[in-house]
Amino acid sequence: MKQINRYIDSVFNKEDALLEEVISSIKENEMPPISVSPSSGKLLTMLISISKAKNVLEIGALGGYSGISIARGFGKEGQLTSLELEESYSKLANNNLSKAGFADQVHYITGPALDSLEKLVSDDKQFDFFFIDADKENYENYLNYCIKLAEPGALIVCDNVLAGGSVADQDAKPKRYTEFMKKFNETVANHPQLESLLIPLGDGMTMSKVMK
Ligand SMILES: C[S@@+](CC[C@H](N)C(=O)[O-])C[C@H]1O[C@@H](n2cnc3c(N)ncnc32)[C@H](O)[C@@H]1O
Repeated sequence: MKQINRYIDSVFNKEDALLEEVISSIKENEMPPISVSPSSGKLLTMLISISKAKNVLEIGALGGYSGISIARGFGKEGQLTSLELEESYSKLANNNLSKAGFADQVHYITGPALDSLEKLVSDDKQFDFFFIDADKENYENYLNYCIKLAEPGALIVCDNVLAGGSVADQDAKPKRYTEFMKKFNETVANHPQLESLLIPLGDGMTMSKVMK
């Protein structure tokens, strides 16, 4: 899987000074190096651009790598709401999104995502695209909130669903969240309101269309 991802990243991704700066800023701030892979970021940009999504909700901001990939997809006409637990992370992400020219189009809500999601539901907010990339143990809760907050036909993308390959390969090193992901993938695949597929790019992304 690693070799194939390296191949895809090297052939299909051009050098990107802005995203390289985001990676450096994450390192300088001693934050974990867990941004989406370059190809996963590009997939987000393409999905948002193709689906013409304009109102995006992200769960898990880190330093803004996926945030910039998302914003590039909607260009000058969209809005990103991003939920992040750590205040210092949302500040860095905000800073990086501003450098990328999206200062007026991004809004960070700091705190546990479950609390922020409950508030978004009670405020009757709706979104047309979701990116779930935070604590894996809560993926199923996040999925349920995203379905509540979804406009008909919205897309929900979830990262790390292959758990380093361990959901499918018994020889791969198991992760803390391997069993959660196995169960989560079954839930996504069989959910009556979702039409879904798993794309084996980066650490694996499920992509679901919400039927309402
Ligand atoms: C894998 S990183 C996100 C990477 C980011 N999407 C990117 O690709 O640029 C996961 C993020 O989720 C955040 N997180 C973890 N638990 C959370 C929670 N309960 N509520 C909100 N954010 C949380 C972490 O602080 C971390 O920044």
